[in-house]
Amino acid sequence: MLCLKCEANSGWIKAVLKNIDEVIIDHAHCEKKAAGTGMSLLSSYPDKTELTLAMADLVEEEIGHFKSVVQILQSKNITLSKDKGDEYVKALLSYARTTEPNRLLDRLLIAGIVEARSCERLQLIASAVEDSELRKFYSELSNSEAGHYVAFIKLAKIYFDETIVRARLDELTEIEKSIVQSLPNLPAMHG
Ligand SMILES: [Fe+2]
Ligand SMILES: [Fe+2]
Repeated sequence: MLCLKCEANSGWIKAVLKNIDEVIIDHAHCEKKAAGTGMSLLSSYPDKTELTLAMADLVEEEIGHFKSVVQILQSKNITLSKDKGDEYVKALLSYARTTEPNRLLDRLLIAGIVEARSCERLQLIASAVEDSELRKFYSELSNSEAGHYVAFIKLAKIYFDETIVRARLDELTEIEKSIVQSLPNLPAMHG
């Protein structure tokens, strides 16, 4: 569960299993957006060397995940369609404070929470799908996203006092819990 304060709604995995192809399409977009988050962070804070290097690694990994997911779609003869957006991430980001240095802390912690939630959901999919290749793929990816969660928290602790990081993580995970519990259980990674 990493830092998370609630589990996925029980209806979510049922929606996923009913429409796994749609979930894989949404998943490809999630990986693309995760790479985008890394690019955005290293563009916003070019003077922060540890952050720049960690985000360069993250972008490489996430774009690799994106490529792997698109290859899975290709093997299933599915074309990647338009990105429908991610209401969960949008809702969470609306709580990021607007003035620095608070904005940096919130962007790092929200990115970490999204990684933790993605890790949970990938694990749930890995345990529930029948296709053995998909099970293996999702299980490996889940471990990778757990590593990204750790990387974001580590960065937050480089630039902020540990007590401040813990307190804000506690607030944001409380907010995340209420967002997750009100999700409509759609066939999407954070649906
Ligand atoms: Fe990823
Ligand atoms: Fe990730």
